[in-house]
Amino acid sequence: MKKETVDLKNVKYYIRTFGCQMNENDSERIAGILASEGAKPSRSLEESDLIIINTCAVREKSEEKLYSFLGRLTSLKKRKKVTIGVVGCVAQLYDSEIFEKKPFVDFIMGPDNYGKLSEIVHSNQEEKISSTSWSQDFHDFPSEKIFRESKISAYVTIMEGCNNFCSYCIVPFTRGREKFRPLQNILQEVREVAQKGFKEVQLLGQNVNSYRDTESKKGFSFLLKEVNSIGGIEWFRFITSHPKNFTLDIAEAMSEAENVCHQLHLPIQSGSTSVLKRMNRSYTREDYLEKICMLRNLMPDINLSTDIIVGFPGETEEEFKDTLSMLEEVRFTNIFSFRYSSRPRTAASRQKNAVPFEEKKKRLIQVQALQKEIQRNFNTSLIGKTMKILCMGKSKKDTQVYSGRNEGYQVVNFKSRDNVIGRFVDVRITSCGPYSLIGEAS
Ligand code: 5AD
Ligand code: SF4
Repeated sequence: MKKETVDLKNVKYYIRTFGCQMNENDSERIAGILASEGAKPSRSLEESDLIIINTCAVREKSEEKLYSFLGRLTSLKKRKKVTIGVVGCVAQLYDSEIFEKKPFVDFIMGPDNYGKLSEIVHSNQEEKISSTSWSQDFHDFPSEKIFRESKISAYVTIMEGCNNFCSYCIVPFTRGREKFRPLQNILQEVREVAQKGFKEVQLLGQNVNSYRDTESKKGFSFLLKEVNSIGGIEWFRFITSHPKNFTLDIAEAMSEAENVCHQLHLPIQSGSTSVLKRMNRSYTREDYLEKICMLRNLMPDINLSTDIIVGFPGETEEEFKDTLSMLEEVRFTNIFSFRYSSRPRTAASRQKNAVPFEEKKKRLIQVQALQKEIQRNFNTSLIGKTMKILCMGKSKKDTQVYSGRNEGYQVVNFKSRDNVIGRFVDVRITSCGPYSLIGEAS
């Protein structure tokens, strides 16, 4: 049976993104594909003809967000003609199971399949379409087509996928193995965003430090030096790094390249060597501390952030205390902390020694309370200092106040007589909370 073909020129689309920066960048590409065929973004679900949900599967909670969002669409779908697509990591993982749970979903598409989007939306087949195949190669995407959310800071993807198989992590099953983008294409995209006036570039990948240009075999430190020498972009950052691949040459490139920020997100996950071993992280507590030492020797002003998982299967009270002491030892400027969540297909999901939910909850509260104090102390030490801020817009809470980030990626809210959105501005810090700094433009 055939259904009506969708003409994208008359379509208003709405994209809801869950998850990490990789997903945000994927949504920018999806929007780019739709826009290049004439579709227009819609301001509300009600006025949309096409709704795409870009999903994250990293924790159970992320998956729940998809189903609660789909729940909101049930009555909309009954009331009007609207095409609904579920894309991204949950789509890749569960495939047509999603159709069984939510029969009103029209198509499913995994992260390696966005190139087929227009074909899928245009298809006049009555059957539901699921496209979740893998590709061995990096699918390059014409950067001029990307529909970027920000006009100030641009994401540039350098690699996709992961070979690490940390025992708790679903990513290798949803994003597949590592695939590297050709160096020349990365440099071309950076040049292009520089010409367009972007001020900051965030290089993206599940494990950016393992980057290797397939042709020249040049690695991540070379890439950093190359992007640094392209004029126009004042701040480069990159995410995510893996401690085992974070080598001296990368730290040196960071410290020598004047446009690479002295800021690093380096997920530790646990401060206990025995837990790290069970997590298959390939480094010990001491290895991690050595890396921190190396970084601080080269860049004493570096801001470090991390990810922490509490309640990994079998985590004892002693092992958990190692995580607390690690936070005290390193004194990160920011952390993202999570209760362990069992994910399908992962090695850890087959372990029988789960930490009870209440205990995980208690440990998470402890981690967050300790970190809050560390951040409050660090932020207080910045009062009176003047720092360079890239202004990203107005504060969400108060439209009289501007909001931006410093080189260390901390949020800074500040007053300014001039409109400084999209500009670098010197801000004197006058007060702070644990999660942000407050100041005045000079
Ligand atoms: N449970 C809890 N947190 C997880 N993360 C990844 N997998 C899990 C899981 N199963 C966290 C890690 C990772 C971040 C992106 O999400 O800390 O660095
Ligand atoms: Fe997941 Fe580990 Fe790969 Fe990060 S390095 S994406 S935590 S498997």
